[in-house]
Amino acid sequence: MSTGGGRPLALLYGTRPQVIKASVLAAALRHRWPLLTVDTGQHYDYDLHAHLYEQLDIARPDVLLGVGSGPLAHQTAAILERTGEVLEARRPWAAMVIGDTNSTLGCALAAAQLRIPVVHVEAGLRAHDTWLVEEINRRVVDALGMLLCAPSPQAAARLARERPDARVAMTGDVACDVLMRNEARAPARGGIAGWPCPPSAPYVFSTLHRAQLTADALLLGQVIGALGALALPVVFAAHPRTRAAIDKAGIALPPSVHLIPPLGYLESLAAIRDAGVVVTDSGGVQREAYWLGTPCITVRSETEWSETVALGANETVAPAHAAADLAARVTARLAARGTWDRGAYGEGAAATRICDAVAALARELAVA
Ligand code: UD1
Repeated sequence: MSTGGGRPLALLYGTRPQVIKASVLAAALRHRWPLLTVDTGQHYDYDLHAHLYEQLDIARPDVLLGVGSGPLAHQTAAILERTGEVLEARRPWAAMVIGDTNSTLGCALAAAQLRIPVVHVEAGLRAHDTWLVEEINRRVVDALGMLLCAPSPQAAARLARERPDARVAMTGDVACDVLMRNEARAPARGGIAGWPCPPSAPYVFSTLHRAQLTADALLLGQVIGALGALALPVVFAAHPRTRAAIDKAGIALPPSVHLIPPLGYLESLAAIRDAGVVVTDSGGVQREAYWLGTPCITVRSETEWSETVALGANETVAPAHAAADLAARVTARLAARGTWDRGAYGEGAAATRICDAVAALARELAVA
């Protein structure tokens, strides 16, 4: 294979956390290869997505597809179709995708169908829940990938067993690179505009957005009720879908639960850093709490970031058990602020290692 005609390497993404990781990856990849960046537009809200470009000084994508929201099949099909057209026209020599979203799946499938080698970043994670959409996505993309970049030794070992035919690289987690580069820029305590509590008051920080929870009004009401029964005020940064689900179900917010719009990346780091405990169902927030030393409770029956649990930084509570269990768990966690080992996902050099692994792939494929 050759890059004759200046064939680029493609980097494809579409959701808010992927935009953040893509910013670091793109900067590193661009040093070595011509790069084509494609944003599917799975996330499109200004609050959720767009101001990240300014805050993290992210270059605009070369192609923005504007896929938007919709039923899973519709969204995945739109990503597949539109990405397929771009890849067919631009013929990159490899296509890099990140994580486990519908954008990851649609872009990887489009590339594989065109016989474009797929590079999967954040490969090898498993939540061991076969019907979780993200679990389906990550398993399929791990099966399609030619180069699998694992964020932890455990994920790399799993891939070596599952995909002996693929190239597996233990690279660490790009989210760690992003955090280490930006941690010092996070606002000081009390410096977040519109913060709903007194600046020095202790609080629990929460984000909940998973479909399994937001689609079940009864369960969502129970979890929000459990947040309202905690001894501390709760600052709840709500994904647009969560806010819509709360409004639609007419869930009354307890007085101690303060709903705020999604935070910028730097504000989110500050909110996690300064919280007594974090209560979330987000994979990104779980890791950020782990790196920043804040105890985390994950409102899911499982997590693919199992190292954070093994190291004592995180624990899971199934949404159905939150009403009974959350208050006691938060109290116990408040006393357990972290001195755990923070190196489970590397030391902030994942983008460089991913570039090295891609360079080895390029040599094997005889890409100039
Ligand atoms: C997606 C990922 C999830 C990831 C999350 C990160 C899938 C299947 N899920 O979830 O793994 O943790 O991104 O944030 O890909 N919406 C808006 N504005 C937006 C985007 C979405 O209002 O900019 C609302 C819409 O009501 C939409 C719903 O959120 O229907 C779901 O959005 P979608 O992109 O399908 O999945 P996420 O829940 O954001």
